[in-house]
Order: sequence, then C-alpha cells, then structure tokens
Amino acid sequence: MNTFTLKNNVLHAENVALTQITENFGSPCYVYSKAALSQAFERFSAGFKDANHLVCFAVKSNPSLAILNLFAKLGAGFDIVSGGELARVIAAGGDPKKVVFSGVGKTAEEMRAALEAGIFCFNVESASELIRLNDVAAYMGKIAPVSLRVNPNVDAKTHPYISTGLKNNKFGVAYEDALDIYLQAAEMSNIAIHGVDCHIGSQITELSPFLDAFDRVLALVDALAENNIQIQHIDLGGGIGICYSDETPPEFTAYAKAMREKLGNRDVKLVFEPGRALVGNAGVLLTKVEYLKPTESKNFAIVDAAMNDLMRPALYDAYHDIQAVAPRNEAAVNYEIVGPVCESGDFLGHDRNLALQEGDLLAIMSAGAYGMSMSSNYNTRPRAAEVMVDGDQCHLIKKRELIADLFANESTVPNS
Ligand code: LLP
Repeated sequence: MNTFTLKNNVLHAENVALTQITENFGSPCYVYSKAALSQAFERFSAGFKDANHLVCFAVKSNPSLAILNLFAKLGAGFDIVSGGELARVIAAGGDPKKVVFSGVGKTAEEMRAALEAGIFCFNVESASELIRLNDVAAYMGKIAPVSLRVNPNVDAKTHPYISTGLKNNKFGVAYEDALDIYLQAAEMSNIAIHGVDCHIGSQITELSPFLDAFDRVLALVDALAENNIQIQHIDLGGGIGICYSDETPPEFTAYAKAMREKLGNRDVKLVFEPGRALVGNAGVLLTKVEYLKPTESKNFAIVDAAMNDLMRPALYDAYHDIQAVAPRNEAAVNYEIVGPVCESGDFLGHDRNLALQEGDLLAIMSAGAYGMSMSSNYNTRPRAAEVMVDGDQCHLIKKRELIADLFANESTVPNS
C-alpha cells in the first residue's frame, strides 16, 4: 500500500488531505497512517505465522500512546529501555508479560518496577547489572527472567552512531565472556536464565549481518546446552532498515524465511524488537515554508519545523525525502530546507529541487521513526502536534505543547 499519495494534486494520508490536517491542527505536525502501521505489523508477523514467536515493538522509535495501543491490540509485545517506557506501555494497554527490557543502565528502581509488572525478560547488558538484578529480585522475593545481550561482533554496515554489535561499543557483553557470565547467572538464587539476546544496529539494509549474528548466537546456545543451560527463547533484536531514498532493505518475508531456516527445528521461541521497520514509513512531518531567502550561493527555504522536531538530518546527516503537499506547476529551484533554530546544523534537507512559495506546506517523509521520539524543546520551541489518520478520519493523538508548559516546572532563586 502506498499510504501518502497525491490525489487531485494534494498529498493525502489515506483519504485525508494533508492541507486539511494543518488547517485543523496547525504546523509543524506529525501525521501517521493507522493502516500503514497496522499493515507493517501484520506483514512482519505474517512471516512467523505458525512459529513460536513474539514481536516486541521498540518503543523508543515512536512511543506515542496511540501507536502503542494500536500495536498492543494487534498482539504486539514491547521492547523498552526505561521505567518511563514501561509506564507508557502499561498506560497504552500493553501487556507487561510481553515486555523485554533492554538498555545498559537500568537503575534498581527501574528493575523493581519491571519485576513488579512481571515482564517477559530482562536483556542484561553486563555482569554488574546481573548482580544488581539478582539483589533487587531477592529483596522483592521474585525471580528475574533473564537473557544476556551478547555482542556478536558483526559489522551491521550502517552508520557508526547506530551500529551496536561491534566489539568497541558500550552495548551487551563480549561474545567471548558470555558463557562465563551465563555460568555465574546459573548460580544466582533469584535469576532464571530464559534466553539469549542480541541487537546489532539499526537501519540495516542487508540480510547477511543478521544471519552472521544469528550463527554466533546459535553457537552460544549450543555451548550453553553443553553446560546444562537450556534456553527458551532467542531475541534477535531489531534493526531492519527502511527505504528513505533508494535503499533496498530486506523484505519482511525474506527476513523471516532466512531466520526460520537458520533456526531449523530447534524448540525455542523467536523474539524480535523491530522499531523503524514498523513505523518509519507510516509517518510524515508537515511543515510550512515561512520564508524564501535567496543568497549569493544558496537559496534557503526557511520552514517552521527544525532540528528540535526532527533531529536525524542534523545528527546523522540522514536523508529524508521532502515533498510539496500541493506541488506547483512552476520551475523548480534548488533549495536548502532549513529550520529557524540558531545552529548551522539545523537543516532538514540539502539540495532539494522544489517549486515553492512562502506559505506552502512540505511533507518530510519517512518521519515515523525516531522523529517525535528524539524531539526536544531547544530554543524554547513547543513540540509539534501528532495526528493519526484512519481512512477519512483524523484524530489528534498529541496536542501541540503550550509555551507556558515549557517552563511550568521551573522556578527562580529568591534574593539572599
Ligand atoms: N532493540 C534495541 C536494543 C535497540 O537498541 C534498538 C534501537 C531497537 C531494538 C530498534 O531498532 P530498529 O528496529 O528501530 O532499527 N536514533 C537512530 C536509531 C537508534 C536506534 C537505537 N536502538 C536513528 O534515528 O536512526
């Protein structure tokens, strides 16, 4: 399905004109398609039909309650990395028994909340974390279900900032140390070993790194079995990429087929933590052209969204396609699409050929993942509104922030 299409020369989300959305809810505004979200989840899951599996949506990619609620209703579990994300999942109607908890810095308080909620598994990322988790669980009289996140040391062939499976980054435990740490875990009174976990990076556009990582995980599973440790699930993390411009990421069906073939007839549950692949292309960021500013060397289109709304271009030099919502039949000009934030790095796109007038609306495409979730209030800019389209209906799922809210928790210091 092509979710965002031109109808009568206006870009629509499903059956709603994007111009209508900014008329109702203002600009900038994130817009998601319910059909695109549901279809992505269902297509991902379909590859594992009849297999013992759990799809845990990576909450960090888009933590909107409406999106979590939609996925929960479709049967999703969730991959969380903080107590805050756990609270969101529960508030959205997600089932804590389908939650995996990743992250290198879990606090004792976060561990308590997760044990209290009865999550599916802790993805433990260090020997020290294991000791702390055992202590916290013992104090509560609980048994903590655990996977160790192992670092398979494969090259995910993606941007270095979002590659996580190499030896020299902070995530997981070194592959060579994993068996030893599992043996320590087996001796701990309040730890139950349930699985092995890995996550090698994000926006991965080839199958081979996933297969290499899986091979290493399976070798570890065999080594554990030789030491009388039987595991019930293998968590292969997230990381499947999407098409932002001309990438050709693996199809879900090809990914599922390859993973199932590699698993063979082993009797273990497969857990996945996709984020971007489920939401990335289901969302756009709408922004209005405030000013056109020709200069000697470049033409700037200054828009009302900025790096605080969508950080990916500034942070990773990431490419997002930018389309006119109501394309003009005029000669295109080469523009730098920039925001109003006071940083030269505040751009949304370089070198874009568009026919623009001040007041025009643009859609920054593929903004459903790591868009709103990485937004900030830099320059005291309220965060954008979020809208979900469902057929010909649109629902405001997050109100635009009010300026007064931005400093409501602050106070001045009394005179001494
Ligand atoms: N599981 C774990 C443990 C993760 O750390 C991540 C993402 C995921 C799953 C989901 O990965 P995905 O399927 O979305 O690739 N801000 C960056 C991406 C950071 C990814 C962090 N971890 C970006 O905008 O590209």
